Amino acid sequence: MNDSLLTILYLAAGVLFIRSLGGLSNQESARRGNTFGIVGMVIAVVATALGPDVDGYVVLGAGVVVGAAIGALVAARVSMEAMPQLVALLHSFVGAAAVLVGLASFLNPRPGLHGVEHVIHQSEIFIGVFVGSLTFTGSLIAFGKLQGGALKKIFLFRSAPVLLPGRHLLNLAMVLGCGYLTYRGIAEPDTGFASLLIVTAISGVLGAHLVMAIGGADMPVVVSMLNSYSGWAAAAAGFMLENDLLIITGALVGSSGAILSYIMCRAMNRSIVNVIFGGFGTGDGAKPASKGSSAGLGRDDVTELDVDGTADELKRARDVIIVPGYGMAVARAQTPIHEITQKLRAAGANVRFAIHPVAGRLPGHMNVLLAEANVPYDIVLEMDEINEDMSDTDLVLVVGANDIVNPDALEDPGSPIAGMPVLEVWHAETVVVMKRGMAAGYAGVQNPLFFKPNTRMLFGDAKKNLDAILAKL
Ligand code: TAP
Repeated sequence: MNDSLLTILYLAAGVLFIRSLGGLSNQESARRGNTFGIVGMVIAVVATALGPDVDGYVVLGAGVVVGAAIGALVAARVSMEAMPQLVALLHSFVGAAAVLVGLASFLNPRPGLHGVEHVIHQSEIFIGVFVGSLTFTGSLIAFGKLQGGALKKIFLFRSAPVLLPGRHLLNLAMVLGCGYLTYRGIAEPDTGFASLLIVTAISGVLGAHLVMAIGGADMPVVVSMLNSYSGWAAAAAGFMLENDLLIITGALVGSSGAILSYIMCRAMNRSIVNVIFGGFGTGDGAKPASKGSSAGLGRDDVTELDVDGTADELKRARDVIIVPGYGMAVARAQTPIHEITQKLRAAGANVRFAIHPVAGRLPGHMNVLLAEANVPYDIVLEMDEINEDMSDTDLVLVVGANDIVNPDALEDPGSPIAGMPVLEVWHAETVVVMKRGMAAGYAGVQNPLFFKPNTRMLFGDAKKNLDAILAKL
């Protein structure tokens, strides 16, 4: 394939990637956006494979076949709840790829580079390896923390932040050390590779250390930050390989990941700087996590409701808002929710869904599940669009949500989630909260909503209870 055709195909793929991102920003156009992305990626892979830089197809073919088979298998089998871990693991592959490309580029220097050009190329290699190795280890730690289970017992993968004394100084020392080694590695070619290997090791420790220090409720932002880092790592690999499309794609992923992190930080009232440097709300002299203003209250202090009572409340209500949370995903309760919605709407009720930006465990988690169950998009509203309607609502049905409806976020400045915007469901006439027991949500704090006079608790698995309510309706 000649260079002009390759450039045209790369340009087409780049445009498709931009259209893909545009489409993914809205759930109605998300499917189309995804298709643009797939077509763009097929063009990118085929054009690169047929391009001048590839001279043997056996290794490439084997890599594509094995990689595609593993990817397809994993993607087909992964459950919605395990998606963030999978994303974190995939980011680690991008980081590892950037490191390998960097090491290979150093060992096989591009011919004909001298003077400034040589220095620039060497700098690209060192920077690419630095970002790649940081992304690799950081993503692995994020994967372990999100995976939980047996991994939780390992110190590195504890969900709580692991804060080493003097960690900011340690981080600074590692960054400066890498900077110095980059200078040395470029200035002294004989020991350059050794310097590069040491940079790989130090930035790997830095990545692990940065993510270890981040815990609990900040993890979603970390995954999206790592998404951004993996984009920059890919862009760095693009510079090393002189591949324009990889540079464009990496920059798109890097900048969109950074913007998403910023949006999520705003939704959780976190400062992005604090998230990146870790330990927000813990350690460093900050107040220890309060357990919330309703600490000490328990199941005896709530008003319970049964399935019949909930069905009656639903039949009576003219205006209903459903707030789904992580528990809906765990219970896979979206289908009965949709069927209940259909029945209530057919009976003339106004039923809408209120989506908190960080409900569940990944951006858009609830939207994906509701779309899967065919809930119409026009009744699925974002928090800002619906929060002020709560006071005119007869009934709010909270399905497996907890932190995102916690009044302490607004009312208790000592709460670890203080300042996080929440769905103010308690302003409705009646609130029915569906969950299995009195367990805390992701942030590990008590929720005073459960003890409010207009709140009723319907205990049990959300899917079982919703199926029973559907039968009653
Ligand atoms: P959570 O605060 O985690 O609460 C979920 C609730 O669902 C739990 O209290 C649990 O109570 C209940 N539950 C679990 N399984 C259930 C089942 N089978 N049936 C009924 N209820 C069930 O969820 P949320 O309100 O969606 O808030 C999200 C939290 O996750 C926030 O703190 C957010 O910062 C964090 N986070 C978000 C993301 C993103 S990007 N969305 C990523 C990581 C973390 P029981 O055990 O008593 O049933």
